[in-house]
Amino acid sequence: MPLFDVYPLYNVTPVSAKGVHVYDDNGTEYLDLYGGHAVISIGHAHPNYVEALKSQVSKLGFYSNAIQNPLQKQLADKIESLSGCKDYELFLCNSGAEANENALKLASFKTGKSRVVAFSNGFHGRTSAAVAATDNKNIIAPINAQQAVTILPLNDIEGVKTELEKGDVCAVIVEFIQGVGGLDQGSSEFFEAIDKLCKANNTMFIADEVQSGYGRSGKFFAFQHYNVTPDIIPIAKGMGNGFPIGGILIHPNIESKYGMLGTTFGGNHLACAAGLAVLNTIEEENLVENVNSLSEYFIAIAKTISQIKKIKGRGLMLGLEFDFEVGELRKELIYNHKIFTGGASNKKLLRILPPLNVKKEHIDQFFEALKKVL
Ligand SMILES: Cc1ncc(COP(=O)(O)O)c(C=O)c1O
Repeated sequence: MPLFDVYPLYNVTPVSAKGVHVYDDNGTEYLDLYGGHAVISIGHAHPNYVEALKSQVSKLGFYSNAIQNPLQKQLADKIESLSGCKDYELFLCNSGAEANENALKLASFKTGKSRVVAFSNGFHGRTSAAVAATDNKNIIAPINAQQAVTILPLNDIEGVKTELEKGDVCAVIVEFIQGVGGLDQGSSEFFEAIDKLCKANNTMFIADEVQSGYGRSGKFFAFQHYNVTPDIIPIAKGMGNGFPIGGILIHPNIESKYGMLGTTFGGNHLACAAGLAVLNTIEEENLVENVNSLSEYFIAIAKTISQIKKIKGRGLMLGLEFDFEVGELRKELIYNHKIFTGGASNKKLLRILPPLNVKKEHIDQFFEALKKVL
């Protein structure tokens, strides 16, 4: 049976990986500065992670959400302690889109309203309400287009005010650092105004941390660079280091009710074991500190390269903007220099999303290669 052909693929076949390296079927080593779309947080095949998954699957890999699963509570407590988000409650699911879908649904349940405000170039996933809130017409099917969504430019405080005061907006959803769109960020005035406007208009403030969360921005959550209190915080990518897991942190002003949300696979034993191994490793290896020091190191070198017109993003969620499209550059990096990097909707942007335990020597290797290609 042929595969449904929706992905343009590089001609590389990884068969194993360790730390920041991936190995193909010929034994060639690649430096992974993309982490499979920002997913690899603690590094490939980290021993803590491998051990936790092996040990859990040999005991109990899965049971449904109809029984007690203490691993879910352990995971929730660990997220609370590492993020400093006190008092939030956790609902577990399986992916970023699902996290946002549940977040939007909850906002609508809570407020009794249904319109969503989202932002230009934002990406929130491919399911029903999440894709409708995504600023890309090519991936919105007619069945999704019936959702009421208003897309505003980033930093349009007046626009947000006007829309929220109409009284029918259940949620404002925003990425504090845009991922797929190309690493743009709103201003602190903008984020802090959204926070206030949401609170004044019975609208839920959703901080989509699917990509920017879990230390990638240099704080546990990217919204923590600002003085805001989101109502709902969707998380996913770095959470499982490759194991499919997502979740939403829910402020206690939203009350739970039996049956309100639910999932078969979400929060299963194996996913929780993966999630706990990731958080324990982030803590034990001080990975958030590593993000900050390596980010500084990376940016300092990037500033010395004249062809780089703009450095975007924060922490290890970075973008290098050139005055040409980077498709060929990425191909040269992968095929000739054996380095994985990422692209964005902004075709002139090279995205850098390495595992959070990347070292200086890997960054040096990248810049040497980049200079040769340029
Ligand atoms: C900010 C953001 N939200 C949501 C998603 C969707 O996540 P998933 O692909 O796991 O459904 C993504 C994926 O790139 C993302 O970057």
